[in-house]
Amino acid sequence: MSVPEKVAQLTQFFYFRLPPGSEPSLDFDAERQPAMVEEAIRTGRAGALLFVTDPSEINRLQRMVVDGNRLGIPALFGFDVIHGLRTIFPVPIAMAASWDPASIEESQRIAAREARAVGIHWTFAPMVDIARDPRWGRMVEGAGEDPYLAGVVAAAQVRGFQESDDPAETVIAGPKHLVGYGAAAGGRDYDEVELSDSDLWNVYLPPFKAAVDAGAKNIMTAYMTLNGLPATGSGWLLEGLLRKTWGFEGFVVSDANAVKNLVTHGFAENARDSAIRALKSGVDMEMAISDPAYEHLADALADDASMAEVLDASVRRVLTAKAEIGLLDAPFVDEAGSREILGRPAHRDTARVAAERSMVLLRNEGSLLPLAANELGSVAVIGSLADSARDTIGPWVFDYDLDETVTILEGIRARVGSDVNVAFEPGIPVVQRTFPSMFDQFGRNRPHDPEDFDETAAFEAAVEAARASDVAVVVVGEWQNMIGEAASRSSLDLPGRQLELLQAVVATGTPVVALVMNGRPLDLRWPASHVPAILDVWYPGTRGGEAVARVLFGDVAPGGKLPFSWPRSVGQVPIGYSHRLSHEPENQARRYWDEASTPLFPFGFGLTYGDVEYSLPVIDRDYMGLHDVATVSVSLVNTADRMVDDVVQLYLHQRFGSASRPVRELKAFQRVTLAARESRTVVFVVGPRERTYWSAASHSWVVEPSVFDAWIGPDSTTQLGVTFEVSDN
Ligand code: NOJ
Repeated sequence: MSVPEKVAQLTQFFYFRLPPGSEPSLDFDAERQPAMVEEAIRTGRAGALLFVTDPSEINRLQRMVVDGNRLGIPALFGFDVIHGLRTIFPVPIAMAASWDPASIEESQRIAAREARAVGIHWTFAPMVDIARDPRWGRMVEGAGEDPYLAGVVAAAQVRGFQESDDPAETVIAGPKHLVGYGAAAGGRDYDEVELSDSDLWNVYLPPFKAAVDAGAKNIMTAYMTLNGLPATGSGWLLEGLLRKTWGFEGFVVSDANAVKNLVTHGFAENARDSAIRALKSGVDMEMAISDPAYEHLADALADDASMAEVLDASVRRVLTAKAEIGLLDAPFVDEAGSREILGRPAHRDTARVAAERSMVLLRNEGSLLPLAANELGSVAVIGSLADSARDTIGPWVFDYDLDETVTILEGIRARVGSDVNVAFEPGIPVVQRTFPSMFDQFGRNRPHDPEDFDETAAFEAAVEAARASDVAVVVVGEWQNMIGEAASRSSLDLPGRQLELLQAVVATGTPVVALVMNGRPLDLRWPASHVPAILDVWYPGTRGGEAVARVLFGDVAPGGKLPFSWPRSVGQVPIGYSHRLSHEPENQARRYWDEASTPLFPFGFGLTYGDVEYSLPVIDRDYMGLHDVATVSVSLVNTADRMVDDVVQLYLHQRFGSASRPVRELKAFQRVTLAARESRTVVFVVGPRERTYWSAASHSWVVEPSVFDAWIGPDSTTQLGVTFEVSDN
């Protein structure tokens, strides 16, 4: 291969066709873009493309790619298949809230099958960035605050995308964004990140390690600087840690335009320098919106012979990925076959179940839920989110079918049948962002906002409907364009007059169920003490409304748990349960003088329709050597007369050592379904793996003699514990 042919393999182009009249905020000329990319393809300068989802378009472009390069090497087509392609699953934070790796894996296996059916070979997922500051909009794409849960969820997603009985139904998984992106200063997307070594190793890196160990074949770099060095130009991170220490054998792609951004960061001198530095740091492929920096590589190579080897290694990795995914044998896609796969009813059923399993019951005073459909005469469904198909499926989807999306209103109507009168009132107008989203320009992404909306009349009609009904179901939350990339917020309030509406509805005296549609915690202080039932339904996906109705009316019991600590207000963030004891831990709940510093709802929390009682855990030995393994077990009993779900969680604390350890850390969990009155014993293993941590004293992984506490319970506040000692002899 010639040098330009090699460089082409390392170059990925966006291919966009935006609707006429759109004003892209991205750094490219939307009119010129498709023609420019086609020119690059025809002249053999593109090795990969992204953002095309139509199979006939993929075939057309692929034909051009194959004909456009001397060796006829086809292009990889990548896309953000984040929570489904046509069948939309609950958003990733919701999937994490299911604490159900099997359901997550199956969902992503279906997403992979649908993606591959249209000709996509590679997904830019899972996002495995830890998020402890909910102002950061991309929290919705990840698994929340905890490294262990995030690692389990990451591995499940990688397996789902990459493993199948039929390899032709898999895609390459690209965990992202290495590393630390979720710790953006102030929760402001893309802002710089300053992370301690301890947090980097113990908290932010483990989900990436879990994804790599699960076999992920690609990794995406991050946009921001990490401790002063742009992550996309960090040889320490990419060549050093990822390849040499972890043994990662796949290929690394930059985030979009992140190579050229090395200049913006004040790091590289110019585009040519950014290309050299990125390639040498370990970025195999540049993802470019336009004018790739890697086009300078041929020229740079002429000056620096040492780069030839680096270039060859990168090309080899990319070609290996192409060969392994079967692209070299079958570059084109079966357009007719794709329609059958995208239409499969079984895919939609899996999405419904995934949504049911993701919902978190936050409050249920007086067991208002489940509602008994046969005892109700009327239901008021309130809030415009209740009947918005686009919001039901959430952010980061582009190839959806709104006609088949079941809204909450539709789900409730179908579930209760025609004997129950279901009234719908939006109550308030759609709320718009102060600064529009770059995603608004795609399809029907901008929230529909009728001009003739009469705010006063709508508000009154909603309150009236509540007053006249047996129960009011009020849907509150954020519109889907308020969460995701470039969707950070300075507040966690319910946008617009939603709280006021909720308060007015509660004041009618009609029992109220609040459904929260969200991808981050919102300020629910008032609802948490005034609204009897609160169910977090997230953005539940294509069959979301049906799933909501099945949980509301008790066809299934909720069993999801929060994958993050839910703050009372924005003033508490960042917030996390696994903090250190520090000074005066007895005053931990009173760190602020004006409000409790504890979360509104703790990490791991979620109710079900009944009570599960836990015994004190039992450990099989309370004294052991450094490398010994103990088993800790607990008995559960479902005291309810119905089937319930729970997630049994094990937390560990090391009392002393070479560094201070968090008050507790999640080390294992198991989601269980218990039949009415069923008892079950759950057993966990606690060995050196669970006791290992990265010590800031030795700058290395350690297992130390100490005294440990292990707690087991239904959330991170459980006090049911045992103590054991570990010695080094
Ligand atoms: C930028 C985002 O940061 C990244 O997550 C995404 O995969 C790419 N754009 C491609 O859409």
